Amino acid sequence: MKKLAVFASGSGTNFEAIAQACADGVIDAEVALMVCDVPSAAVVARAERFGIRKFVFSPKQYSCKAGYEKEIVDKMDALGIDLVCLAGYMRIVGETLLKAYEGRIINIHPSLLPAFKGAHAVEQAVEYGVKVYGITIHYVNSDLDGGRIIAQKAFEYDGSDAEEVHRIGQKIEHELYIKTINQLLCAR
Ligand code: GAR
Repeated sequence: MKKLAVFASGSGTNFEAIAQACADGVIDAEVALMVCDVPSAAVVARAERFGIRKFVFSPKQYSCKAGYEKEIVDKMDALGIDLVCLAGYMRIVGETLLKAYEGRIINIHPSLLPAFKGAHAVEQAVEYGVKVYGITIHYVNSDLDGGRIIAQKAFEYDGSDAEEVHRIGQKIEHELYIKTINQLLCAR
């Protein structure tokens, strides 16, 4: 069975959608590892509920990014991870992780890239006054939110409530992530 690692920093609704899809056989793979850089994040309890192995760390306990990324790579190598899914992992992926897994790391982002890169995409899009929003799944490389696009889905919203855009977008994210993971695993 194919093995996924899911990285998250916050609530973890995408993590849960992926874990549930694996548990239900909708994705023919298992989440073998959840990686989180925020010990207090809600995603940690979600992983525990699913009984999924986790690596939770505080970046400040390491002298540099290479330190914790080396530990992550060692764990993923030992588990035989096939695909790394960033799901609200709010940290730039460094050289150590990229060197080991480039081409096998994907990210979900709450905008139609290349518009609105970075950590506050939805708020920036609302501020800008766009009428068409969207979700992008892309490969991760050394350019922030700049890797090759794999899938996108747009939706219309004419208003100024960022929370509402997040709500609409998250439902789309869960479906699009599951579909895209399945496509990538089938192609491997
Ligand atoms: C998601 O909306 C994801 O697109 C976004 O973080 C959220 C995590 O939600 N990622 C980024 O903004 C990356 N730049 P979740 O913790 O509920 O899955």
